[in-house]
Amino acid sequence: MTSLNLEALFQSKIDEETKIEPKDWMPDAYRKTLIRQISQHAHSEIVGMLPEGNWITRAPSLRRKLILLAKVQDEAGHGLYLYSAAETLGANRDDLVQQLLSGKAKYSSIFNYPTLNWADIGAIGWLVDGAAIMNQVMLTRTSYGPYARAMVRICKEESFHQRQGYEIMIAMAKGSPEQKAMAQDAINRWWWPSLMMFGPKDAESSHSDQALKWKIKRKTNDELRQQFVDVTVPQAEYLGLTVPDPDLRWNEEKGSYDFGEIDWEEFWSVVKGNGPCNKQRLQARNKAYEDGAWVREAASAHAAKKEQRKLEPQLATKAA
Ligand code: 3HC
Repeated sequence: MTSLNLEALFQSKIDEETKIEPKDWMPDAYRKTLIRQISQHAHSEIVGMLPEGNWITRAPSLRRKLILLAKVQDEAGHGLYLYSAAETLGANRDDLVQQLLSGKAKYSSIFNYPTLNWADIGAIGWLVDGAAIMNQVMLTRTSYGPYARAMVRICKEESFHQRQGYEIMIAMAKGSPEQKAMAQDAINRWWWPSLMMFGPKDAESSHSDQALKWKIKRKTNDELRQQFVDVTVPQAEYLGLTVPDPDLRWNEEKGSYDFGEIDWEEFWSVVKGNGPCNKQRLQARNKAYEDGAWVREAASAHAAKKEQRKLEPQLATKAA
């Protein structure tokens, strides 16, 4: 079959909503863009553990500590799940990790902002995981089978992440005036970087057109961003907090909110490595990788020993 026919057959499977599985023929460019997106998604989960992990020892109560511990452990699991999904496309996990550690690979810009106090942990759960859910629920319908299935499991845990964050924000916003001021300060600092999580505007998105044709994406960056704003603004109003956007207003005709322009200079500067915490995040990941070298060596030595034990009987019969 010519490659033209293969491409046509592949696209017809996409159009009739047949999931693409690891052993199916797929265009190299489909494989490549999925490895790109899935590995960056995995990197985001692993780096995303750092801002919140910083507050596990500082949680205001044992209950909050337990909840935050569970959430950060979930993120680690999401990362490992997604690296496995990338491996089904032929990617090598070590190579992907080295791309992160060397600063070559991207991860979500949001994780390059500092967590200054406990209200930030609430804002991250509420806004960052809330934005992630918007995107990941869409990805449960992505055309690549292993990615879609990974998303189903991840979204179940993300809902808990978002609820626990919003519960912290309720406690702060309904608490003392100082706590309410902390909650307002947190939304002031996390609102716009959360909108940036959805990526550049559609006109500047280099991958979206093809991703939509291949049903990797089901909605555009701007559509998801709009959906997030429409859902989240009423939640901020319930908290009695002000969204830091003077241009935000309900558009009756459109049936959704109009909102201000994102600072795209800030977005690209953070994506390019110049955010408040980019260097710190990579240093932390490199240190964790070095500190974990002994575990990798012990695990591979154990695996080699097991392999050797399996071979011993054959070697013994050969020698006899
Ligand atoms: N941070 C860093 N890079 C970003 C970005 C962001 N917020 N948004 C876009 N980019 C990059 C893209 O990776 C691409 O660069 P590349 O070609 O080098 O990969 C470039 O900007 C152009 O953007 P596009 O819109 O054309 O790229 P995509 O079509 O890939 O769309 C995306 C970007 C919507 C982030 C898409 O990649 C996606 O849906 N990824 C999977 C979900 C994901 O990664 N979410 C990140 C957060 S995970 C998380 O929050 C975990 C939770 O538990 C806290």
